[in-house]
Amino acid sequence: MRVGVLTGGGDCPGLNAVIRAIVRTGVAEHGYDFTGFRDGWRGPLEGDTMTLDVPAVRGILPRGGTVLGSSRTNPLADSAASGGRSGLERIKDNLADLGVDALVAIGGEDTLGVAARLHDEGVKVVGVPKTIDNDLGATDYTFGFDTAVNIAMEAIDRLHTTAESHHRALIVEVMGRHAGWIALHAGMAGGANVILIPEQPFDIEQVCGWVEHRFQSRYAPIVVVSEGAHPKQGAEALANQQRDAFGHVRLGGVGQMLADEIEERTGKEARATVLGHVQRGGTPTAFDRVLATRFGTHAIRAVAEGAFGAMVALRGTDIIRVPIAAATSELKLVPPERYAEAELFFG
Ligand code: F6P
Repeated sequence: MRVGVLTGGGDCPGLNAVIRAIVRTGVAEHGYDFTGFRDGWRGPLEGDTMTLDVPAVRGILPRGGTVLGSSRTNPLADSAASGGRSGLERIKDNLADLGVDALVAIGGEDTLGVAARLHDEGVKVVGVPKTIDNDLGATDYTFGFDTAVNIAMEAIDRLHTTAESHHRALIVEVMGRHAGWIALHAGMAGGANVILIPEQPFDIEQVCGWVEHRFQSRYAPIVVVSEGAHPKQGAEALANQQRDAFGHVRLGGVGQMLADEIEERTGKEARATVLGHVQRGGTPTAFDRVLATRFGTHAIRAVAEGAFGAMVALRGTDIIRVPIAAATSELKLVPPERYAEAELFFG
């Protein structure tokens, strides 16, 4: 059996740990051969491959990024068609030409959405969920999230000290797209004075009230804001007007917008820090390395047992299998009661 492996969408720490576990388990338990596809769906679409064997995965467990590369290439987009064939047909032809019997697709909702479509078309696919955003409904956690939260928490810890020296309000903009998980966890862990998430549109007057209250208690406020958070009477801040191949807007700018509003309304100096891709880079935490390794091992076992169309997922402490389509059917958002727990510490 020859198994193809690809990593698609935004990268995150732990991808290399999954790739290593897939190859090591596949070779040791089943004697499989592997083909690495470069840059997400672009690899199978264009037949762009790389060697993926045990020597190729030595030493990659602690490394961030992905040795396979990643992209947001969408084989379902019109632009993926070529030579009278759709993107999905091109992938199927290339898999056949390369002698690839089954595919493990590691990705978020977009990558796994394509995997689900390929499965409907008869391709043998198993999915592995990843995203720093932790917004996939079918799994309790995705790897990459814990690392991103720890990076953001460390940044908040550092910002507290300089905010206090200068009596400033510091605003920290974190990633997460339409889900506030990174902001919620990093903000709670870092002792933020206000946490703003997309699921709970904010009132700028109330935010300023919390900021002023914090100054009155002789501490400098830290406001953690998720990139997708927006005021009650306003829309998300966009970095630009472009959309990616899956139709997603590029979020960004709410941190600076808040800093300007806070400064104007409170008269206190306010500055914004945008953590951006720092949250996706570097070495994964122990939690993410273990989760990613378990996902990889269980994914190749799903291949061996013919459980195609399945995605591995974390439920409690167990790795289970769910239909790939379940991963993409519903975004996992922060429930109001979780936000209410954090809100107790605002101001
Ligand atoms: O989905 C992961 C993520 O990092 C989001 O949090 C963020 O909005 C987006 O990807 C950024 O995408 P890109 O790296 O393509 O700019």
